[in-house]
Amino acid sequence: MHDIVLIPGDGIGPEITESVTTILDEAGADINWIRCTAGLSAHKELGDPLPGDTIAAIEKHRIALKGPLTTPVGSGFRSVNVAMRKKFELYSNIRPAKTLPHIKSRFDDVNLVMFRENTEGLYIGKEQWVKENSHAESIAVVTRSASEKIIRAAFEYAKKKDRKKVTLVHKANILKFTCGLFMEVGEEIAKNYPEIEYEDLIVDNMAMQMVLQPEQFDVIVTTNLFGDILSDLASGLVGGLGLTGAANIGDDTAMFEAVHGSAPDIAGQNKANPIAFLFSALMMLEHIGEENRADRIRQAVYYTLENKSACTPDIGGNGTTKTFTEAVVRNLKK
Ligand code: NAI
Ligand code: MG
Repeated sequence: MHDIVLIPGDGIGPEITESVTTILDEAGADINWIRCTAGLSAHKELGDPLPGDTIAAIEKHRIALKGPLTTPVGSGFRSVNVAMRKKFELYSNIRPAKTLPHIKSRFDDVNLVMFRENTEGLYIGKEQWVKENSHAESIAVVTRSASEKIIRAAFEYAKKKDRKKVTLVHKANILKFTCGLFMEVGEEIAKNYPEIEYEDLIVDNMAMQMVLQPEQFDVIVTTNLFGDILSDLASGLVGGLGLTGAANIGDDTAMFEAVHGSAPDIAGQNKANPIAFLFSALMMLEHIGEENRADRIRQAVYYTLENKSACTPDIGGNGTTKTFTEAVVRNLKK
């Protein structure tokens, strides 16, 4: 029995959580869900977007499945996601984007994995007014140690999964110190993996290359902000944000969540696509050694994708979160 912290989150979070826990339970996963709160819902209920009990539960159990959390735009409390990634030193944000059967997208053969540095860059939240309302500044931090961790994680993953190439993405032509350091570390680490092809690309060119010819990419490693933006782009390449899962991994803690946010525009309408969150949960099952169960559930999702009447509208279906969930549960028995 695995004790796993479950944070349903905000917006569509509770709906997709219900779907994913149903599917995992029906697939026989031996999980004891420890339910906790965080985000806007926790802020409203308890006056704290990251309650002490939630932190304590993650510290105790070390594995969490987390729904999306709403972060107020422009003002209000700072991102709880960013705070948790920092607090538990979840330095690798791993975001695969793979073409799926029966899903219409512009490309047939995308199979890339983004490694996004998850603890520093521009996301440390060191912002200040130089002059109130007329001059703001924000500090980006890049350290050798965090860069080494994420870049090494990307190469180790490539080696383990027999992937052929690592592409490091930067803006070292302009950001000569921060991105310059990241790139320098990449060149050093790449020398230890002669069997893996290594290249670096400037982020603006990368954005264009990904839209034009994404099949050329395999493992991608980049800093926090670029990884945030390019992983949404990667989701778009394979059919949208409803389809891409993610893992935040540190040395002793792991937290699994979708790439997407709380989607307030469709919350509470039984329309949210639970696949992204389900794929995050499958990464979690693989993490705890339940690869076979993860494969079986993935196969049931692939069967379900063929049946548009069961799928959600974001991927061209005319079903709901519920019809999709029920169809996957049925297909588990195939
Ligand atoms: P979003 O990812 O929530 O939504 C972007 C678009 O994709 C929307 O049109 C939404 O309806 C659609 N979408 C997203 N997930 C979907 C799903 N599973 N099924 C069907 N359609 C889906 O991004 P947005 O609107 O920019 O952010 C909303 C909130 O989410 C913000 O407060 C933001 O801070 C937060 N957020 C949280 C994240 C997290 O908890 N890891 C990540 C990204 C954003
Ligand atoms: Mg994002």
